[in-house]
Amino acid sequence: MDNLFLRALKCQSTERPPVWLMRQAGRYMPAYRALKERYSFLELCKNSELATEVTLLPIKQFAPDAAILFADILLILETFGFTLRFGEDQGPLIETHGLLNSLQTLKPISVGESLNYIQTTIKNLKEELSVPLIGFCGAPFTLATYILEGRSSQHFLETKKWLYHKPQEFHHILELLTEQTLDYLKLQIEGGVDALQIFDSWIGHFSYRDLEVYCFPYLKRIVEGLKKTGIPIILFGKGSSALIPEFIECNPQCIGVDALGNLPRIASEIPPSIAIQGNLDPDLLSAPLSLLEQEVFKLTQSMGHRPGFIFNLGHGIKPTASPLAVQKLIETVKNSSFALT
Ligand code: CP3
Repeated sequence: MDNLFLRALKCQSTERPPVWLMRQAGRYMPAYRALKERYSFLELCKNSELATEVTLLPIKQFAPDAAILFADILLILETFGFTLRFGEDQGPLIETHGLLNSLQTLKPISVGESLNYIQTTIKNLKEELSVPLIGFCGAPFTLATYILEGRSSQHFLETKKWLYHKPQEFHHILELLTEQTLDYLKLQIEGGVDALQIFDSWIGHFSYRDLEVYCFPYLKRIVEGLKKTGIPIILFGKGSSALIPEFIECNPQCIGVDALGNLPRIASEIPPSIAIQGNLDPDLLSAPLSLLEQEVFKLTQSMGHRPGFIFNLGHGIKPTASPLAVQKLIETVKNSSFALT
């Protein structure tokens, strides 16, 4: 497949930056909300026909240069025997059923058994898509916070308790998550994904000391563990703009930068062999279209000359975004051009 997105991941030059958007299928789309009237979020993820349909919604409406599998980073937690619920407007809730009290006996069931529907969705999508398909996972550190907090947290008090009082046990959880994630990503690769993105969403809330010990080594193991598959890996973290040297150290094909960072400056710190993805503020999708267009133009002008630049947001599209704004963003990037040879 000769595609701008895959070429950019290899840091080859492209006539314009490729563009796709995190959370490109979601509640900002009326068609998605209509499906949510009939099915729960988990049903949409687990029913491969529905997940295929949802993945394709933004592709048909906005024609970005890549699709991202419709699923969630938390589905893997079910393989550990935890229960996952998505309540309306309260985000994810994870019930661990006391299993963390006897960590030595905590053994996940195989991903093939529990997450087979993901592979079926990927296979369905590969038959339908003419753009590359991105698979994904949550990073062990971010997943561990969900297990320990039971939900999206503001202060991460439980996680910090484990970090400080039960470091060995915390490492044990990260070990299990790392091994299971490697299996999960291999299952996605066997299904046919063209690239993978690792989401480390909560690292911006922790100190360098915590991340050095509990986050980076596991990220590195995942990237290294997949190197010989040849599938490009995008490493994205909310907070990554402060951690570029550590992300480079993990050696992914691409670094996804959040909206806080000054992208041209960050790009100057990243070797030319690593692609860069980012980093428009998602809130601009609720701004006047003229302002959005101006900012998209500015970012493409400042970054578009760099082989290996992939246009994206600095974080996922919010439910409040306007579909017209998403269309305008993608059109504006697609109309930009550079004499890159
Ligand atoms: O990007 C995509 O379009 C692919 C699908 C995708 C979803 N979640 C769908 C989703 C991806 C890649 C994710 C990743 C994810 N999930 C992350 C990492 C990225 C990030 O946001 O930092 C995290 C932390 C989660 C966990 C999660 N799932 C949360 C915190 C929530 C609730 C917040 C919210 O936006 O509602 C979800 C639910 C979720 N995941 C929805 C979607 C479309 C909304 C569910 C609904 O329709 O009610």
